[in-house]
Amino acid sequence: MSEQLSAAFEQIVRQRRSVRGFTDQVVPRKTLERIFSLAGRAPSNCNTQPWDSYVVSGNTIETLRERLPQALMAGDYSMDFEYSGKYDGAYKERQYDAAARLYNAMGIERSDRDARTAAFARNFEFFGAPHAVFLFLREDFGMREAADLGMYAQTLMLGFTAFGLASCPQTALSFNAKLVRDVLGVDPHYKLLFGISFGYEDQNEPANDCRVERAALQQTTHFLD
Ligand SMILES: Cc1cc2nc3c(=O)[nH]c(=O)nc-3n(C[C@H](O)[C@H](O)[C@H](O)COP(=O)(O)O)c2cc1C
Repeated sequence: MSEQLSAAFEQIVRQRRSVRGFTDQVVPRKTLERIFSLAGRAPSNCNTQPWDSYVVSGNTIETLRERLPQALMAGDYSMDFEYSGKYDGAYKERQYDAAARLYNAMGIERSDRDARTAAFARNFEFFGAPHAVFLFLREDFGMREAADLGMYAQTLMLGFTAFGLASCPQTALSFNAKLVRDVLGVDPHYKLLFGISFGYEDQNEPANDCRVERAALQQTTHFLD
């Protein structure tokens, strides 16, 4: 295998990160089709390709950008998959570290609950992105198909990076699955796992200065001879 290919892969993987501020520049449809076709090369159990993607732009994303914050600020939640957001041990430490780094980049004090809430609410406005994709699974599918969907999503996000785009995967975009389904006209038998905002990175957004670390290899990976 060529060293060039390895270097290119490493660069794409290291360059991808969650971006939380986008310009309003739209991505040409042909580019989107190319990247989403590549994402479809992800592996899946028995090649079932159980992902159902809805890419929203234009009026559709603007409708959601208006209605999602309204609904969620009014306490109108309807999640298809349980999510407590509570972790313990090393998982909790990593969660706290990631949050601290993000709020630090944004200049928000830990004690400033209003500023933190306002920052979190930007999730529901897609961080200003001109596009997002919602990832659905048929209701009778389980963990294995959800894992397939994760592989698809990561292939997609690496594709965005390789094509000069940025993205942010967001469980927050699934907090009112019913509203999303209604606006998109999705069959109620399809359940919303998460969404991904994407577009061009806004270089002037302080949140985008955030960088999070990863655990040491030996903490997560066990090599057995
Ligand atoms: C499935 C999934 C859901 C996520 N949900 C959110 C979210 O709702 N809001 C957010 O700001 N970041 C969200 N993230 C981004 C994570 O915080 C981020 O991936 C993690 O901190 C690692 O940072 P990095 O993506 O910059 O490498 C999510 C990531 C994944 C994979």
